[in-house]
Amino acid sequence: MILRLTDANFQDIFAVVNGAAVAYKGKIPADRWKEPYMSKEELREEIASGVQFYGYTENNTLVAVMGIQQVNDVTLIRHAYTLTIHQRKGIGQKLLNYLLSLAKTKRILVGTWETASWAIKFYQKHGFEPLSREQTNMLLRKYWNIPERQVETSIVLEYRGRPS
Ligand SMILES: CC(C)(COP(=O)(O)OP(=O)(O)OC[C@H]1O[C@@H](n2cnc3c(N)ncnc32)[C@H](O)[C@@H]1OP(=O)(O)O)[C@@H](O)C(=O)NCCC(=O)NCCS
Repeated sequence: MILRLTDANFQDIFAVVNGAAVAYKGKIPADRWKEPYMSKEELREEIASGVQFYGYTENNTLVAVMGIQQVNDVTLIRHAYTLTIHQRKGIGQKLLNYLLSLAKTKRILVGTWETASWAIKFYQKHGFEPLSREQTNMLLRKYWNIPERQVETSIVLEYRGRPS
């Protein structure tokens, strides 16, 4: 079941993000990895800056989260995490499709680590196309609030529509 998450779900969002983020260990630049991957303060800041999280529950337990953020004229898909044991069962796809249906702008973007090949594959499979390094840098600086080091090591993909 997909639901819109609120402050009441904060602890569970924190647990899902950091549970699933173990996938990054040894894959993203070592200087960008920390534990927990996302602190409570960072998560609070993300929510305060307008990231609305949605979640997928199984037996009343939160097993995946994904955020959507409207920034000026674009919609960003943010912080997609499915707990490891629940991955590759189509949950990410359900959440992504749901969020895509909520987008109010023509342009929909997502950013991820350049070395997160599985995440890039996931987005490509669902109609996103990787953008050039120049476009990536420009868009990350314009629409995201992330350190320059993360800009250099990330990639932006743009939604081109459902694959036929
Ligand atoms: C990316 C992520 C959210 C996808 O969630 P999910 O619930 O597994 O998604 P789905 O089951 O709908 O889609 C699975 C597809 O994603 C890709 N994928 C997911 N995990 C993969 C892996 N370990 N290796 C290769 N491809 C993978 C594949 O295209 C896969 O399709 P397939 O199983 O038919 O090959 C999940 O893998 C995750 O939480 N990863 C760790 C955190 C992360 O990378 N988040 C992205 C941040 S923007």
